[in-house]
Amino acid sequence: MSETAVIIAVANQKGGVGKTTTVVNLGAALAERGFRTLVVDFDPQGNASSGLNVDTSQLELTMSNVLLGTDPLENCIEPTAEKNLFIAPSDMDLADAAMLVGSNQKYAFPQTLLRRSIDAVAGDFDYILIDCPPTLGLLTVNAFAAASTILAPVQCEYYALEGVRDLLSIVEQVQANINPSLDVGHFLLTMQQATKLSKEVEADLRNTFGKKVFTTAVPRNVRLAEAPAHGKSILKFDTNSPGAQAYRKIAKELSHGRTPRIR
Ligand SMILES: Nc1ncnc2c1ncn2[C@@H]1O[C@H](COP(=O)(O)OP(=O)(O)OP(=O)(O)O)[C@@H](O)[C@H]1O
Ligand SMILES: [Mg+2]
Repeated sequence: MSETAVIIAVANQKGGVGKTTTVVNLGAALAERGFRTLVVDFDPQGNASSGLNVDTSQLELTMSNVLLGTDPLENCIEPTAEKNLFIAPSDMDLADAAMLVGSNQKYAFPQTLLRRSIDAVAGDFDYILIDCPPTLGLLTVNAFAAASTILAPVQCEYYALEGVRDLLSIVEQVQANINPSLDVGHFLLTMQQATKLSKEVEADLRNTFGKKVFTTAVPRNVRLAEAPAHGKSILKFDTNSPGAQAYRKIAKELSHGRTPRIR
């Protein structure tokens, strides 16, 4: 393992493709393997936070304070009920914060605010997973500026690949202007079913992106949709479910050849 965390932006501007489900459950599966893992909730919807049982109304600090630069990221990190898994939570305030930093001249380089905050904690974690909102706006650009790589969940349905093309064009802009080493390193098939369409989307993605596509796909599994209401990852909510097994395998693929840093 390198001296600092692998920072992964989980992104796709298409809504409801499994970004948050992947951040929470892949994060939990990496933590289960012994990797110290931080989930950064960078979506004003706050789904990763509530899914990991964090009630932001009880907290003094969230990612909106970090984005505004009033507090260091370190101060807003909360432990979760799962060993090795931590979260920097968000709620609706993050939308206002993004508007402000995008329009106020006080913030000279608003695209790199998250990067500067994450750099200060990267030495404390093995993996940092950033949950992006379903847009290609300032929050997602901040995540791309901070990340070493992007993981794009792709839902096995019509038009899935068209969304990926739009994503790649934003990535090119970020590479050219802010973060030259950024790449879309991983694609993950989500909500896979035994239908013809699902198989076609899978074949298309594998033909186009080859080894970047995780061998393991996430099956459509209702237990994955139920777990957030219980504030638990799928690994704790239904440890033997197909969803739990899939995310464990994906964590194994992702972390292949790496070991947790000794603490
Ligand atoms: N493999 C799956 N099987 C069944 N349901 C799933 C699966 N993955 C995600 N879901 C459900 O689908 C919905 C959308 O998933 P999720 O919230 O992870 O997507 P998202 O990309 O983060 O959405 P948004 O763009 O709004 O942030 C949720 O209700 C979630 O529980
Ligand atoms: Mg989400």
